[in-house]
Amino acid sequence: MYRGIFDTHAHYDDARFDEDRDALLCSLPQKGVARVINCGVDLASSKTTLSLAHKYDYVYAAIGFHPEDCGDATDADFEALLPLYGDPKVVAVGEIGLDYYWDTVPKETQKAVFERQLILANELHKPVIVHDREAHADTLALLKKHRPQGVLHCFSGSVESMEEAVKLGLYIGLGGAVTFKNAKKPLAVAAAAPADRLLLETDCPYMAPVPFRGKRNDSSLIAFVAETIAAVRGVEVQQLIDQCRENANRLFGID
Ligand code: NI
Repeated sequence: MYRGIFDTHAHYDDARFDEDRDALLCSLPQKGVARVINCGVDLASSKTTLSLAHKYDYVYAAIGFHPEDCGDATDADFEALLPLYGDPKVVAVGEIGLDYYWDTVPKETQKAVFERQLILANELHKPVIVHDREAHADTLALLKKHRPQGVLHCFSGSVESMEEAVKLGLYIGLGGAVTFKNAKKPLAVAAAAPADRLLLETDCPYMAPVPFRGKRNDSSLIAFVAETIAAVRGVEVQQLIDQCRENANRLFGID
């Protein structure tokens, strides 16, 4: 068994954990999971995220408005979230970004909400957890404009765009996608990314790695992601897990 796994992106507030959330979250430390950042996607899930972080020592919170969930967010919603950023368990503004795949919220709304939260993150001196789906150019342009610290979660771009993100000081989050058949790009990124910029993540309950693809994901399954990445980098799995945990601690100001 591996030790010290840091899952930098989870959604344990999701309804798919309703049946066994407490049992699962109590069991993860015994499966080598040392830390988890749970990510809110709107006001309600950000509040739930924070209560999970208060209940479980090893769980931390990112709070914010996700591009797919920001369509109905009002100024009052944004203001309601503000005081929560002062909580010591809140380590990031997230999950924020742009999603042009689902197209549920107009692009201009998404961009305005993303930019508003990038400005907030810089004011708070907190890193951002960025969701970018089929929106690489606009995401990168806004990150270049505001230069926050942060991570591009579930990184799906090319090696060239990874290098551009690294130059901006950003971290690269990799999860189950590296284990999928035809995962050429994520694997190339996993091999080429600087060791001090890699983060491990699940995005659970989504993105379960092979051999659990399509099933409910949880932080213990990161072992399969770490094995895949360690293999393409030619390093020991435990060494990779340790390096990624140190990277996450540095980025999120933990320890
Ligand atoms: Ni997510």
